[in-house]
Amino acid sequence: MYICLEGIDGSGKSTQIVLLEKWLNDCGHDVLRIFEPTDSSIGKLIREMLRNPKAEEEDFQKTLALLFAADRMVLMDTIKVSEESNNVVISDRCFYSSIVYQNDAGWLYEINKFIRKPDIVILLDLDVDNALERCEGNDSFENRAFLEKIRKKYLKLAEENDFFVINANNGINKVHDDIKRVISPKIGRCI
Ligand SMILES: Nc1ncnc2c1ncn2[C@@H]1O[C@H](COP(=O)(O)OP(=O)(O)OP(=O)(O)O)[C@@H](O)[C@H]1O
Ligand SMILES: [Mg+2]
Repeated sequence: MYICLEGIDGSGKSTQIVLLEKWLNDCGHDVLRIFEPTDSSIGKLIREMLRNPKAEEEDFQKTLALLFAADRMVLMDTIKVSEESNNVVISDRCFYSSIVYQNDAGWLYEINKFIRKPDIVILLDLDVDNALERCEGNDSFENRAFLEKIRKKYLKLAEENDFFVINANNGINKVHDDIKRVISPKIGRCI
């Protein structure tokens, strides 16, 4: 079982994945917790490139998209081995982040065509006002417009791909309960 948490910055992915791992462990499941970009050398290069002032440029974005796909490809073997030992794999972001943050969806699907898609995707849907508040983000018109655009792309993908959409504006415990409610019926042993 491969479960992915998606959502805009500040939506609570990193907060919730820790709670999710603990809950799954308490239910007797072994868990592999992963994140993208990974901490492989490709992942490290991605993080470094994201800090580059040129990161917004089109060619740079294409290079990043390829690196994200490569970084993800390296993860596939880890996921496979882990699932063979019956671990539940939970991931902070996955393939769909590439689709919402980068352009040219057709090409992105192509370069990610060997990537295993998660069995369950949970979208933590957060209002942009709350995202800016939580991350003390840059409240400029451009940044707001960017976050709105990403949020809309996520919601569209969610509809097209049957993600579970959870209202991430609620408190941490309520969001955790909602995530448990989605996963319980699929996973066994957890109630
Ligand atoms: N439900 C919530 N209500 C209020 N604050 C929250 C909630 N969930 C998370 N936070 C807080 O919001 C901030 C961002 O949360 P978190 O780091 O989990 O988001 P994220 O989705 O992982 O963001 P990023 O994509 O930037 O890594 C943290 O300070 C966290 O404590
Ligand atoms: Mg995070």
